[in-house]
Amino acid sequence: MKENLELILLRVSQRPDIDKGELDVASRLIINSVCEGLEITRAGIWLYDENQTLVQCTLLIDKGNDLDNESLVLTRRDFPHYFEALDSGRTIAAHDAITDVATFEFAEVYLTPLGISSMLDVPIRHRGKMIGIICCEHQGKARQWLDDEMVFAASLADLYGRAISANERADYEQQLLEANRTLEQKVKDRTKELEAAQEKLVESEKMAALGNLVAGIAHEVNTPLGIALTSVSNCKEELKDIYRDFENGELTEEGFKDFEAICSEGLSLAETSLMRAANLVQDFKRTSADQTSLEIEEITLDEYIPRVCNPLKPMLRKEQIELSIDVPSDLVITTCPGIIAQLLTNLISNAQRHAFGPSVDNEVNKVSVSCGKSEKGIVISVQDNGKGIPAELHKKVFEPFYTTARDKGGTGLGLNILYNLVRQKFNGEIDLVSSPGEGTTITVCIPVES
Ligand SMILES: Nc1ncnc2c1ncn2[C@@H]1O[C@H](COP(=O)(O)OP(=O)(O)OP(=O)(O)O)[C@@H](O)[C@H]1O
Ligand SMILES: [Mg+2]
Repeated sequence: MKENLELILLRVSQRPDIDKGELDVASRLIINSVCEGLEITRAGIWLYDENQTLVQCTLLIDKGNDLDNESLVLTRRDFPHYFEALDSGRTIAAHDAITDVATFEFAEVYLTPLGISSMLDVPIRHRGKMIGIICCEHQGKARQWLDDEMVFAASLADLYGRAISANERADYEQQLLEANRTLEQKVKDRTKELEAAQEKLVESEKMAALGNLVAGIAHEVNTPLGIALTSVSNCKEELKDIYRDFENGELTEEGFKDFEAICSEGLSLAETSLMRAANLVQDFKRTSADQTSLEIEEITLDEYIPRVCNPLKPMLRKEQIELSIDVPSDLVITTCPGIIAQLLTNLISNAQRHAFGPSVDNEVNKVSVSCGKSEKGIVISVQDNGKGIPAELHKKVFEPFYTTARDKGGTGLGLNILYNLVRQKFNGEIDLVSSPGEGTTITVCIPVES
């Protein structure tokens, strides 16, 4: 190839404009270079429509100026010979365009008026498919297109294909960026919505819990207070009666003894009821888990845990329940021993009270306490092989005042106190695994300083 053509090609192919994705700039660069190399003043880019029934001009440069190309369309119907030549997919080198079999159809309407004598059309390919042509038009005396010139123009057409690819890539990148941006925004919006929903949920759960709590306290405390009140008013009536008898001189020894018996029974009942109410309030205060008396100490678990559990053994033995304790030796932790004692007594007495009964048919009723250390802290489990707790009650058993043993004096505060202690005071976790017939395991994990 002639050196100057080679140089132009090299220069164009090295220009970043080709691969930047800005097709307009690349098109202009290519057409201007075609004109420069072939020493012509008029050239353009024509692209097929989808069905290859026409070609439309996307850029036409004449003497360095862009010509209005919007209405420039050549259809297969009007120029069948030209399209036939295009269909071959090869370069059309019409040395004498007026008579050439591919281009003669343009003679009257186009070539002669514009003084075009020779035409060189090179195919533009994209992804292996011909998508259009670069059309080089020579004005003046007809010329013989040289092989070098044809190769040169074809190479520039290839560069145009490269520019289209870059343009597509840039489009995809833009779309991808846009999609990412939308996605990010969507995620942000959704997260916000979820957070708001969660806040609401927590708030409404809190309100519900508070409502239950107040209703529970009112109910629990009201019962003994009601009994005490009735008893005291009874005593007051009796006192009025006895005083009236006394005023009227009708008070007998027997009457007075009766009065004494009724009143002391009534007052005892009032006293126990008030005690119960007071205890309930005391218990209830404990649920707030805001106990200041939780002192931190260093304890050796295989000493401490048996020390807490062993005293419970006789009570369990009475009900044919076997207690086993499995604690690794030499596990020393710094924690609040009070909470460990409280959780153990609470869980073991729950097992004793609720897990077994006539419906449970075990060879041996067992409660096992085990303990270990995990990454998160100290893990203590109390497991029984009793009747278990159905899944729908797993949340409920931790609510204040939920009990299935009210008739036996249960208040339903045990697990709630434990829950609040572990979760709020110690930032730990409490986990219940249980199903009917499979027994119950409650595992508590308390973070400790290692
Ligand atoms: N090991 C268990 N097996 C079966 N059910 C259990 C077990 N532990 C607890 N429960 C159920 O959970 C309920 C709530 O327990 P929680 O300790 O909070 O209250 P309680 O033992 O009934 O009363 P309190 O502990 O306040 O005296 C119990 O009434 C019982 O129905
Ligand atoms: Mg309990």
